[in-house]
Amino acid sequence: MANVTSTWTEPSNTATALLLLGRGTDPASERGVDCPGDLPAPSDPDLVARATAAKAALGDRVFVLGHHYQRDEVIQFADVTGDSFKLAQQAAARPDAEFIVFCGVHFMAESADILTTARQRVILPDLAAGCSMADMAVLGQVETAWERFEDLGIAADVVPVTYMNSSADIKGFVGRNKGVVCTSSNAKRALTWSFEQGSKVFFLPDQHLGRNTAVLEMGFDLDDCVLYDPHKPGGGLTDDELRDARMILWRGHCSVHGRFTLDSVREVRERVPGVNVLVHPECRHDVVRAADQVGSTEYIIKALDAAPSGSAWAVGTELNLVRRLALAHPDKQIMFLDRTVCYCSTMNRIDLPHLVWALEELVAGRVPNVITVDEETAANARVALDQMLALP
Ligand code: 13P
Ligand code: SF4
Repeated sequence: MANVTSTWTEPSNTATALLLLGRGTDPASERGVDCPGDLPAPSDPDLVARATAAKAALGDRVFVLGHHYQRDEVIQFADVTGDSFKLAQQAAARPDAEFIVFCGVHFMAESADILTTARQRVILPDLAAGCSMADMAVLGQVETAWERFEDLGIAADVVPVTYMNSSADIKGFVGRNKGVVCTSSNAKRALTWSFEQGSKVFFLPDQHLGRNTAVLEMGFDLDDCVLYDPHKPGGGLTDDELRDARMILWRGHCSVHGRFTLDSVREVRERVPGVNVLVHPECRHDVVRAADQVGSTEYIIKALDAAPSGSAWAVGTELNLVRRLALAHPDKQIMFLDRTVCYCSTMNRIDLPHLVWALEELVAGRVPNVITVDEETAANARVALDQMLALP
């Protein structure tokens, strides 16, 4: 059996790969706010013991959710790990937990707040854990686009679909306009349902998930898709382009998955004969087309669990997850698709000091970093989230 130390190669570092973590602000993040609180030092040797003790003291009052892109030091304290779909389901299924500590990013915590009861509180250990993709669709811009569809007389035919990776405002807009939320695990089901309700879909905010699902899973042509650019007058589209389109894609993308290129795929195929290329659908269309398999983080985990011993895999998703999978399967050659480091810098903001701080605050009777969505937005967003949870 191959030893993992001989198969896992750490990608090389780049100057921009990681933002400074911990205290301070990230103006480019979904919220771009500072995280208050007196955090323990990252070098504190007792951090694991402190997190363990605080969690034990809280018992069933706390439920910790961990997205697959979280650091190992954090994921070890998660009661449940999952992709964004599974975590939304899990948040909705825990009405007894007083506190949901969400180790993920802001839009996930917002969705958890919408899906939990009024009595429960959702806590994001670092308020600066936003998402650059979610930032790419702002409510005012989306409403401007919708007004254009109304002026053109096509709005009644358009079903808005938003990826989970969007703010609660955008989910509220989608709920108000009879649409649905989707995740990378159910995008095909969401689009199938949407095309039963109308003849066009307005897909927010990830152009790649929208295009990849429509073209590679639903049989649409690339010509059926148009790209609405919120920074151009009228979205940069003519009236005829909008009238003819089946998929109106918002110009947004994931800055992590956008790093993988066709060259990365070609290079690994040359270097490792017989390698299986497995990528997330947030990757660019040419990358997904060149891959052997595509799927959500949950799909990627299952595919590697089921892979035969000795098989080789180049995986195009966030590095914390790929490294964890490589270490969990030392009999398989699992490598990162890119040559350089590719963490999600905002996911990485939740580190052990922030988790310890949040848990210890709860033990002390203070509730830090509560994520609350206002009632009206939450009610509208819940329509679109419930529609997702009810998809056939
Ligand atoms: P999933 O967890 O739905 O696969 O999405 C990946 C992602 O980018 C989360 O931010
Ligand atoms: Fe956002 Fe991409 Fe990070 Fe997911 S991986 S939180 S989509 S920036």
